[in-house]
Amino acid sequence: MCGIVAYIGHKNAQPLLMEGLKRLEYRGYDSAGMAVIGDDLQMTRAVGRVSVLEDLLEREPLTGSIGIAHTRWATHGEVTEANAHPHRDDRIGVAIIHNGTIENYASLKTYLQERGHEFVSETDTEVLAMLISELYDEANGGLETAVQSALREVRGAYAIAVVCEKEPGTLVAARKGSPLIVGVGDKEFIVASDASAIVAHTTQVFELDDYQVCKLTEDSFRTSTLENISVTPQIRQLEIDLEQIELGDFDTFMMKEIFEQPDSLRRTMLGRIKRDEGSVVLGGVLKFARDLVRARQVLLTGQGTAYNAAMVGQYLMEDLAKIPAKVEYASELRYRNPIIQDGTVLVAVSQSGETADTLAALREARERGAMTMGVVNVVGSSIARSTDAGVYLRVGPEIGVASTKAFTGQLMVMAMLALFTGRRRFLSVESCAELMGELERVPEMIERILEQNDSIREVAARYAERENWLFLGRGYNYPVAMEGALKLKEISYIHAEGMPAAEIKHGPIALINDGMPAVFIANKGPQYDKVMLNIEQVKSRGGRIIAVATEGDTEITKHAAPEDVFWIPQISDPLSPLLTVVPLQLLACHAAMIRGHDVDKPRNLAKSVTVE
Ligand code: M6R
Repeated sequence: MCGIVAYIGHKNAQPLLMEGLKRLEYRGYDSAGMAVIGDDLQMTRAVGRVSVLEDLLEREPLTGSIGIAHTRWATHGEVTEANAHPHRDDRIGVAIIHNGTIENYASLKTYLQERGHEFVSETDTEVLAMLISELYDEANGGLETAVQSALREVRGAYAIAVVCEKEPGTLVAARKGSPLIVGVGDKEFIVASDASAIVAHTTQVFELDDYQVCKLTEDSFRTSTLENISVTPQIRQLEIDLEQIELGDFDTFMMKEIFEQPDSLRRTMLGRIKRDEGSVVLGGVLKFARDLVRARQVLLTGQGTAYNAAMVGQYLMEDLAKIPAKVEYASELRYRNPIIQDGTVLVAVSQSGETADTLAALREARERGAMTMGVVNVVGSSIARSTDAGVYLRVGPEIGVASTKAFTGQLMVMAMLALFTGRRRFLSVESCAELMGELERVPEMIERILEQNDSIREVAARYAERENWLFLGRGYNYPVAMEGALKLKEISYIHAEGMPAAEIKHGPIALINDGMPAVFIANKGPQYDKVMLNIEQVKSRGGRIIAVATEGDTEITKHAAPEDVFWIPQISDPLSPLLTVVPLQLLACHAAMIRGHDVDKPRNLAKSVTVE
């Protein structure tokens, strides 16, 4: 989605803002722009990549030490320079950048047009610029008051940064529903929608809460509510470092993050697994352990990859904790009038912690009396701040749009949560300790899978030209089949469907034609024989079998060509998704690169979907 970076301080703003924009590129966007105040307000915008804007700015630099910059992912109006941010008013030199959507922008626009304002774009953001300008009164609080007053009139979601030619030493930021972080430096501040645009300059930050406005000058800040009541924000240390958001020896973030998984999962487990005692320590859940143990239903929700992880979570909660569990897309749950009985625990799964549908479903369930829990990666994100309890993934910043290390982090947290609950219900110390021992060995097992990278690349090269693929699995590996298909389609633009392996004979088998790749997850688990039957059904109709199988399985190579088999170490079925997904991540990444796509910036996609 859109990205915000703004600066006020003593340095030249343009290079700093440009660096911030580059760090925000991964979020997905279609145009970019920058405004800087020096002697006057200067602005440049461009359609396409940040590099296009950079070229323009190299030819005609913007000078000044206060500025705002933005990457836009179109919601209102087409992808044009006129619709790109920043937007300006038509009177006093207000410039604004905005993430989110203003729902009542049409009525506000009519009101402003009646007052003589002339609009040049189709965006809701320009309406906000005009409204701030209309309400601006230098003698009565200036920009800060105008922003507070304007936002009291607005319905919808926003994170904004605003400057005004009339107040060249002031930057005003505000938020409702879209994240905004303020980095506190030495006589300088950086405001951004994402910590990655801040961390190179300072690690001291505070988040704005919903309905808060922050007025910044070079050496001071003041945070207030929309009613101008001062609030004191909590300054905290950012827990990411620069290395984590840089490519290092890798060509793409996606590949880097796939290879990071052994280490990221070690961090997810660190200090949480006490194998000798057969217990799991989850600090963020401890206070609510009784609610979890006595839950009558666990309802898990998320979108995309997070939904697929939640589906594994559903199986784990039923299997290990013996609590009825259900998974539902957040976008459906939020509008479906769900029955939330007494004793419902809602688990919201999200890498970013900002996905609009997941946040809304969580709030809906909370209103209806559910105890809420977050399984989130980004510390301090909206979902993390809105839940009663939670477990952070600790996998570090995920920059690749295709989620990889967050997925395995989510699976690991789900497994720990199921053990945490199961141990307090029916699971013996011994059974818990056994599964924990396996969890502890997962990073090393993934290292072994990653050694097959070259052969997985060869498989990708053999089939990358095929336009239709199937991904099939059963039980715990049905969600992995969904995830394998999602990975392939989002970065390689190949049509892929993931489904329960037994489902093919109810229709999809009609699709099988000569050489169609069908990826089976065929690890040694309770449904292995059934998967073999499904493999034969596809193979006998001309499908080409690619399989994920358990080391030492001699049967599988009777059904699939040995060079088309990816091997995983032996692991118990409930934990197998942690391993089976890894070759599928590599397969998708290679297929996309072979087809010539930028895997970190797939078309039309945004890293974090903060709009409906
Ligand atoms: O930040 P979240 O985990 O809430 O994001 C949910 C989905 O938007 C996300 O998983 C998306 O499907 C990814 N592109 C998948 O790789």
